[in-house]
Amino acid sequence: MVKKYVIAFDQGTTSTRTIVFDVKGNIVSISQKELNQYYPQSGWVEHDALEIYNDQLETFMQAVSHSGIDPKEIASVGITNQRETTVVWDRKTGKPIHKAIVWLDKRTTGICKDLEAKSLAGYIKKNTGLVIDSYFSGTKLKWILDNVEGAQEKAKAGQLMFGTIDSWLIYKFTNGTKHVTDHTNASRTLIYNIKTLEWDKKLLKALNIPQSLLPKVQTSSSDFGTIDYKGIKIPIYGVAGDQQASLFGQGGFEAGIAKSTYGTGCFILSNTGAKHVKSKKGLLTTLTCSLENEPINYALEGSVFAGGASIQWLRDRMKVIDNASETEAICNSIPPLKNVYVVPAFAGLGAPHWDGKAKGSVFGLTLDTGREHLIKATVNALAYQTKDVIGAMEKDCGEKISTLKVDGGATANNYLMQFQSDLLNVNVDRPKMIEVTAFGAALLAGIKAGIWTKNDISIIRKIDTVFSPNMDEKTRKKSYKGWKKAIKRTKGN
Ligand code: G3P
Repeated sequence: MVKKYVIAFDQGTTSTRTIVFDVKGNIVSISQKELNQYYPQSGWVEHDALEIYNDQLETFMQAVSHSGIDPKEIASVGITNQRETTVVWDRKTGKPIHKAIVWLDKRTTGICKDLEAKSLAGYIKKNTGLVIDSYFSGTKLKWILDNVEGAQEKAKAGQLMFGTIDSWLIYKFTNGTKHVTDHTNASRTLIYNIKTLEWDKKLLKALNIPQSLLPKVQTSSSDFGTIDYKGIKIPIYGVAGDQQASLFGQGGFEAGIAKSTYGTGCFILSNTGAKHVKSKKGLLTTLTCSLENEPINYALEGSVFAGGASIQWLRDRMKVIDNASETEAICNSIPPLKNVYVVPAFAGLGAPHWDGKAKGSVFGLTLDTGREHLIKATVNALAYQTKDVIGAMEKDCGEKISTLKVDGGATANNYLMQFQSDLLNVNVDRPKMIEVTAFGAALLAGIKAGIWTKNDISIIRKIDTVFSPNMDEKTRKKSYKGWKKAIKRTKGN
């Protein structure tokens, strides 16, 4: 039977989805489930790994049955996932020994301090491309081994397995036969050497992590095992962390292309080609999606922890909106803000500031500041944070970014996209199909299956709107100066 469809599993921080794509890159069906968040203590964030697997399975079944396609026509599956989130499970039972510790979780700041005290910051930067921060998996893995009773002993005896969400899903979907990950996910663990493309022995020793726990690292577009779908064998041919998957889905295969995804956080990546650029401005160096028989590429990344999460905060905690989609009209209903700034450091500040202790702050309140101002300032913060990162990228690369490609839920907000273009003074290019992350994973899986080549992106990716800058230089400078002052006052709080 002719293979006409590729499936993407998109396991994100707040939801789990399955999308069926046809060979033209059109979406045939989507199924989605919200994911429960567990906050056992202030600053701690957990997920239930079994719930993640069950949700992925359920959405997979639903998406296939709603699409009306014959499952025998599915060429392959691509998996993309929230990165860094850490799962440890028992090799014998296949059950997690602790809830998954989510990338946003701050419990390991003490372990990070120990790494700093061992003077490992320079080594880590040079060899993993990362900074010492609780964001990454390595310290989370150590925390589980140190805090779950008997875990260190079991780990030493080879009885435990570690994985980011991709590894965990592959393990479950292949019936426990595969313990693997890909270059992009490995590059977010703090224990993977992005120069030698091996697990880093020195860092494993520093964190007391036995190598037997670790998955085998593969090319992002390669054979990760087979799913048995009601007796039909479907190969997993693509795996990538969500931010690298969206860079791939935006066509960011070559040096110079930059994208920003406005999801739970905002993640800005720029491909630097074969060049491993070491940031002097607080950015990360990370691996992009890898293809068989092609050289490894690097990217500079600015990870901003609170993007869409701050709009959720407006909705769920401040209760000033019922739905994120209301924010566009509210922002347009009042004149540009003069001095009100929200710095959404709800999980500390990520790139390029890296202040794990910072807390969210609001500046410039006067008696006439109302609900609309608070909402508009929160939306503006997504654009300001993106500008902080793009500015750092331009300094690191010594080149101006000419266009920013965007995706993610918040790109539906035209006010935000225009403000982003105004602040950056560059064109902001929004594609018609904003499910770019899922499409990136599907593209990796479709390439391995022989359905697409990466050049097909130019036919598949269609532009919806290009937002062009429309703000005078004086206003741009003044607004950004106010933001920088707000950041300065938030840091070290
Ligand atoms: O690094 C964290 C990132 O991968 C999470 O992405 O889309 O779930 O916010 P998202």
